[in-house]
Amino acid sequence: MSSWLVTGGAGYIGAHIVKALRDQNEPVVVLDDLSTGEASRVGDAPLVVGSLSDGDLVRRTLAEHEVRGIVHIAAKKQVGESVQRPLYYYRENVANLITLLEAAVDCGVEGFVFSSSSSTYGMPDVDRVTEDVPGIPLSPYGETKVVGEWLARAVGAATGMRAISLRYFNVAGAAAPELGDPGVFNLIPLAFAALTAGKPPQVFGADYPTPDGTCIRDYVHVADVADAHAAALRHLSAGGAGGVYNIGRGEGSSVLEVLEMVASVTGIDIEPIVVERRPGDPARIVASADRIRNELGWTARYDLRDMVTSAWEAWPHRRD
Ligand code: WQD
Repeated sequence: MSSWLVTGGAGYIGAHIVKALRDQNEPVVVLDDLSTGEASRVGDAPLVVGSLSDGDLVRRTLAEHEVRGIVHIAAKKQVGESVQRPLYYYRENVANLITLLEAAVDCGVEGFVFSSSSSTYGMPDVDRVTEDVPGIPLSPYGETKVVGEWLARAVGAATGMRAISLRYFNVAGAAAPELGDPGVFNLIPLAFAALTAGKPPQVFGADYPTPDGTCIRDYVHVADVADAHAAALRHLSAGGAGGVYNIGRGEGSSVLEVLEMVASVTGIDIEPIVVERRPGDPARIVASADRIRNELGWTARYDLRDMVTSAWEAWPHRRD
């Protein structure tokens, strides 16, 4: 039986996608180098441990598992690190994508879903960002996602492979405690880390032109993000065309609102401290989620409280 390849399926977002597809009885194979992923996260899905830079391994995997579609999640995703190590980010996120696409074309893969990012937009000056708003990414990380979208689209145009790019906004939460985000790089895990260390969470700037002065983001539950991938695959399976879609809720939350939710969920009294702005942070970035709702029938089910609650239940401290 033909199956879906999920690259990076042992990572935080990838494992949620594997779970969503398995829950719908879709056959899945995972390719992951386990650099940040964990084998235990893929459940009983077949796992091939190796690098995407190994074109022969990718071809063998595609052939052996009769892969008809690829969900490409494996990538480096730390904005700050990408500024320090641009070549590493271009190699991991762009050179590996070229190797993967070469193998996909050789093996006749029909559908491709690319994990893109709201960071492709840079600092959009609009209330809600539609997919057509032109963006200038502010980091090498964001650049690799723009180039990735272009590569997938160009290969699609040249070969007939249909490619969908999904631009994630701020992904948070967990579908199960063992699937929590192991990285402590984003606002909610950083706030948990501060609280459990008995320190105040930091607010990176409170003088932005927003109602409470702190940055506004569109937080979306990782289980919803996974369902969006399932919707994209259904669309491709039904012969639908490729395209670009935002994955967000269309609702903004400020840093202070997120920290208030963290206080409410954890029951820990928080006195956040305001520190310097972090360079490159847009004051506000919120998705328009209309296109994906209209064309793929997807809409987010979970709210900020669900995200913070599930992330807290998955927080390692709570599992002890
Ligand atoms: C959220 C807000 C910070 C930590 C990143 C990528 C983006 C996308 C999602 C996908 C910002 C503020 C944070 C802290 C704070 N990724 N903050 N104190 O930067 O919005 O988005 O992840 O690929 O491309 O850039 O996420 O969680 O780092 O920050 O005040 O201790 O919280 O300034 O306004 P970001 P984040």
